Amino acid sequence: MISIDLSGKTVVVTGATGELGRVMSRTLAKAGADVAVHCHANRAKADALAKELRDMGRRALVVQADVADHDSVFAMRDAVVKELGQPHVIVNNAVSQYAWTTVLEQNEADYESQFRTCVMQSVLMAKAFVPAMVERKWGRVIAINTECSMQCWPNQSAYVSGKRGMDGVLRVLAREVGPSGVTVNQVAPGWTISENRGGDDTPQWYLDRVALGRRGFDQEIANAVAFLASDLSSFITGAYVPVCGGNVMPAI
Ligand SMILES: NC(=O)c1ccc[n+]([C@@H]2O[C@H](COP(=O)([O-])OP(=O)(O)OC[C@H]3O[C@@H](n4cnc5c(N)ncnc54)[C@H](OP(=O)(O)O)[C@@H]3O)[C@@H](O)[C@H]2O)c1
Repeated sequence: MISIDLSGKTVVVTGATGELGRVMSRTLAKAGADVAVHCHANRAKADALAKELRDMGRRALVVQADVADHDSVFAMRDAVVKELGQPHVIVNNAVSQYAWTTVLEQNEADYESQFRTCVMQSVLMAKAFVPAMVERKWGRVIAINTECSMQCWPNQSAYVSGKRGMDGVLRVLAREVGPSGVTVNQVAPGWTISENRGGDDTPQWYLDRVALGRRGFDQEIANAVAFLASDLSSFITGAYVPVCGGNVMPAI
């Protein structure tokens, strides 16, 4: 029987307090991984999640950091290594939220914040955690992108610019570290139903675009992350994997 077994692996999930991050953390822990639960402002949520993971029998550490700040990310790295050892897997999931509007109306600061939490998170997380993966000759970098990167619909410009920039960093990284046995992949969720964001308000025009005719669930995103974290994905790297029911279909 094939199963996803992450026992003995240590994973860092950034934005673990968020809607998708906490389900990713639980899923990776259910697969056997020890988890560094990263938060930014929501320490209490992170503490509660870490307790849940410990109750499952895993080691879990709460780390607080600004993923766009070099010193903060490296302090997080040091704390994780001290308590849990060098991580085998990093999941770059955190993102800063802002109000979406047109290019003509969007605050310039919103572009900078998306650049920092998407592009610079990718760069800083790689600099902090990938060297040890290269040395170990095994590692998984998983980043959370979005279907929006391929849609480029109105009002998404700051978000899409950050996520497309991040895509560039990660595809290059995949080529640079591939020879050392480290894979670098992106999961691109659709508009996802999660604990605090239900699906009742979904307009029909959106559903009409989705091949599977529905919105996905947080668990379906986490399942893709768990697969990419595991040995089952050993020959996949540099991939942008849409988990959006066929709303976007990258061309070949
Ligand atoms: N939800 C969806 O439908 C959807 C669809 C497509 C793609 N995605 C992608 O999936 C990922 C997760 O989205 P989500 O909806 O779960 O997000 P979310 O609920 O808004 O959570 C965002 C997370 O990022 C953290 N964060 C924000 N700014 C930060 C900073 N400067 N430094 C460090 N951490 C920071 C937050 O930490 P605190 O809470 O501790 O402050 C929180 O844990 C994102 O990359 C997003 O682009 C989501």
